[in-house]
Amino acid sequence: MRILLLASAFNSLSQRLYAELRERRHLVDVQLAGDDDELRASLARLQPDLLLAPMLRTAIPQDVWSALTCLIVHPGPPGDRGPSSLDRAIQDGRAEWGVTVLQAEAEMDAGPVWAWAPCRLPERGKSDLYRNEVSDAAVAAALLAVERVASGCHTPQPQHGPGWRHPVRTRPLLRQEERRIDWAGDSTGTVLRRLRAADSQPGVLDALCGGEWYLHGGHREPVLRGRPGELLATRAGAVCRATPDGAVWIPELRRRRTPGGPATFKLPAVTALGALLPPVPEVPVPLMPGGREGAAWSDIRYREDGPVGFLRFSFPGGAMSTDHCRRLLEAYRFAAARPTSVLVLGGGRDFFSNGIHLNVIEAAPDQAAESWANITAMDDLVAEVLTTTDRLVVAAVAGNAAAGGVMLALAADEVWCRHGSVLNPHYRLMGLYGSEYWTYTLPRRVGAAEAERLTRQALPVSAAAAGRIGLVDRVLDCGPQEFGPSAARLAGLLAASPAAQRRIAAKKAAREADERAKPLEAYREEELAVMHRQFFTPESPYHALRSAFVRKRPAPAGSAAPM
Ligand code: COA
Repeated sequence: MRILLLASAFNSLSQRLYAELRERRHLVDVQLAGDDDELRASLARLQPDLLLAPMLRTAIPQDVWSALTCLIVHPGPPGDRGPSSLDRAIQDGRAEWGVTVLQAEAEMDAGPVWAWAPCRLPERGKSDLYRNEVSDAAVAAALLAVERVASGCHTPQPQHGPGWRHPVRTRPLLRQEERRIDWAGDSTGTVLRRLRAADSQPGVLDALCGGEWYLHGGHREPVLRGRPGELLATRAGAVCRATPDGAVWIPELRRRRTPGGPATFKLPAVTALGALLPPVPEVPVPLMPGGREGAAWSDIRYREDGPVGFLRFSFPGGAMSTDHCRRLLEAYRFAAARPTSVLVLGGGRDFFSNGIHLNVIEAAPDQAAESWANITAMDDLVAEVLTTTDRLVVAAVAGNAAAGGVMLALAADEVWCRHGSVLNPHYRLMGLYGSEYWTYTLPRRVGAAEAERLTRQALPVSAAAAGRIGLVDRVLDCGPQEFGPSAARLAGLLAASPAAQRRIAAKKAAREADERAKPLEAYREEELAVMHRQFFTPESPYHALRSAFVRKRPAPAGSAAPM
């Protein structure tokens, strides 16, 4: 079928559906919502059989939905209606939820149901759930709906009358008044539900250190206690705030926009507060914690299971600042000095990495200098992975990865991802040439022609396609919660296999041969020479693209050109 995807943003779910539908040989085009005349022009030109809207913040015009089957992906079970379904489900503490694909008509979410799929809601932030459990259910339901439309003989179920067994409930937009945290009265559980329901957008509006901020993300603190509402400590750029029965870690803050003022964007909490932060102690946890410390939140963790080491890291939005890269490099060096034969990187849930931290760069007084510091810190980390020759390194990509984050994974000996992962192995959309030794690792994996195609087309790649072209070695067919344990089990088998020691010896020889052919330093210098120009030329498209990206504005027209 010819399918037009209509989306308010080409976000993770739209990208995944785009890739999965193309996998199934459908002809897929994408139209960004917002301009109805542009939509009508696209429909006239493309003549699609179906319009599918995976993520839509605006209504489809009546003349469009009355002439063409238009399917809406709604992140709620059948009968649930309203614009804040997932937010409300999380804030209400629901453990089971669902995604419905329904036909667009005049009343929002009231059209006949073409398909739906249930999903679980483990205690995670909304955007993590959206990219994982909800995305799996959305893809299952959307593919079934597409199949049913294609069959030409399926009648969708109207939301009333015989055969309809679900309660119908319309719930309004979840506004800040309902999200507000009462620091003196709300339990830690309630605070966490509110933070998770608002993560990563819109955040929970709150007063802090004399200003108004949106709070983003939340993790339970097991030990620290204080006066409710008080800031108690910092860790890894996050702040810890007391509740009546505990405390929570808040990793990121976004300043409230002043009327008529410039758009604001999220930053690590400590960076955002700057001089406003009261004198609270930095309370680190050991990289390899024991006992009670095991429950403490940290963005980087190491553990061992016999011959396998696991270096887990999880940064909001997958963005890695200079500080993140340096701390991860230090942790990597620690892990690489341990007596293991297999080292697994990543492996938790959600984003593996999305490369350098564009928000932190945008907020820096000298953006070119911060871009440079960030990319060189990222390169130092990747170089350390590439030159590890005494053990096998596995990148366990639980969720999506993009740009330098994909290249970080490619530095490992094996790349494993989940079947729902979407990879964007290119930098072009940020107007960058890229570094992270991609000119060495990408062609080494997929061949020069495929590397050229991937970087030029700058399209998302599904896990299945990534497996086919050799971008990843293994695709794990499991749910988001099972990915970590499954990867751990496979890593154990890899370490125990008789081939492991042979592969380690062969790896060392191959690295030495590659180094003789062209030293890693030469790849780095060539890549960084281009990046230096792009960073330090004020008119280079990168600066305008980054500014638009962090402020969630559309990319300036014509600026994402290849170099
Ligand atoms: N720096 C800072 N923030 C980043 C980021 C980066 N490199 N990559 C993603 N994010 C943030 C997004 O702004 C978004 O923030 P929000 O939660 O406030 O909305 C969040 O992470 C999730 O990203 P989003 O774009 O909503 O996810 P997606 O799955 O729809 O799209 C990408 C993923 C990777 C395609 C898209 O985020 C992207 O293009 N990122 C930039 C990649 C890049 O160019 N990196 C720099 C070069 S190495």
